[in-house]
Amino acid sequence: MIDRIEQLCAEGQEAIAAAASSEELEELRVRYLGRKAELPQMLRGVAALEPAERGRVGAAANSARQALESLIAQRAGELAAQELQTGLREDAIDVTLPGAPPQQIGRLHLLTSTRRELEDIFLGLGFTVMEGPEIETVHYNFDALNHSPTHPARARSDTFYVGEELVLRTHTSPMQVRAMESHPPPLYVVIPGRVFRPDSDATHTPQFHQIEGLAVDEDITLADLKGTLLQFARAVFGEERDVRLRPHFFPFTEPSVEVDVSCFNCTGEGFLRDGSRCHVCRGEGWLEVLGAGEVDPNLYAYVPTTEANAPGYDPERVQGFAWGLGVERIAMLKHGVPDLRLYFENDLRFLEQF
Ligand code: PHE
Repeated sequence: MIDRIEQLCAEGQEAIAAAASSEELEELRVRYLGRKAELPQMLRGVAALEPAERGRVGAAANSARQALESLIAQRAGELAAQELQTGLREDAIDVTLPGAPPQQIGRLHLLTSTRRELEDIFLGLGFTVMEGPEIETVHYNFDALNHSPTHPARARSDTFYVGEELVLRTHTSPMQVRAMESHPPPLYVVIPGRVFRPDSDATHTPQFHQIEGLAVDEDITLADLKGTLLQFARAVFGEERDVRLRPHFFPFTEPSVEVDVSCFNCTGEGFLRDGSRCHVCRGEGWLEVLGAGEVDPNLYAYVPTTEANAPGYDPERVQGFAWGLGVERIAMLKHGVPDLRLYFENDLRFLEQF
């Protein structure tokens, strides 16, 4: 029996000294000193032994238990310290590392940034910004803008009707009349907004954006229109640019013009340094940017004088000029966007370039 005790003790000591983790050590404690283990059972059986044996076996078993207990306690201390060190090393955070750069979570759509840039230019020239309804009456969209009853733009194939007398506005020009109805002269306003026409191809989308401009004051001439749009063209396309006016027709301006800006890509030459044709203006040297004109005096007759706009718009006293430009077109020219539909497809590969 004594031999067995010594064998257990030696075996246990060797195993405990070799234990590589707290868990392994706990298993050994259960194996050698647990309630069902051999040594504690022997100790419990001592009372049943011959009196001559009791003393020796009891003492040997007790000292074996104490030896194992103290070795376990010592090894537990060593392993806990080791494990703490490993844990600290593995969980270490280098607080001196630079932080991760902030993730970009979004940006303005090219049309939004272009619209704001254009608004800023006109604000700088003394215009204020107004907005108006996207669903418009036939009165403001056509009648009050001097369109004859048979004007082709009124056709259901050219305009989205939402009722007999209601349309999705086909341009921002109806706001010319609304602005004059609600404010007295002198009036200097720009009106950005969505407009709608039933067209769809690379250069037409059913929804697009315009910025209307209207200036009404005394002694306004076509020169004021040209000067204003020259400032605009230079702010958008560069200080070197020039503008030219070509005769055109709009029902609500007289005279009406189309406004071209000298090409920023070839500085108006039509060809590049290497002699090749400029692809931006297709060799023209000029880019068409907008429609404009002097406010047709007929228009003032559609603007009743009320408390809101007194003394009202007397064609004998005031003159004005107006323009309408396409936001998509300006951004297309400036950034080389080849297809209008790209603006509305929400492909990040396109949007993230601006
Ligand atoms: N409303 C016209 C269009 O959409 C543009 C325009 C506005 C022309 C103001 C002259 C004056 O084509």
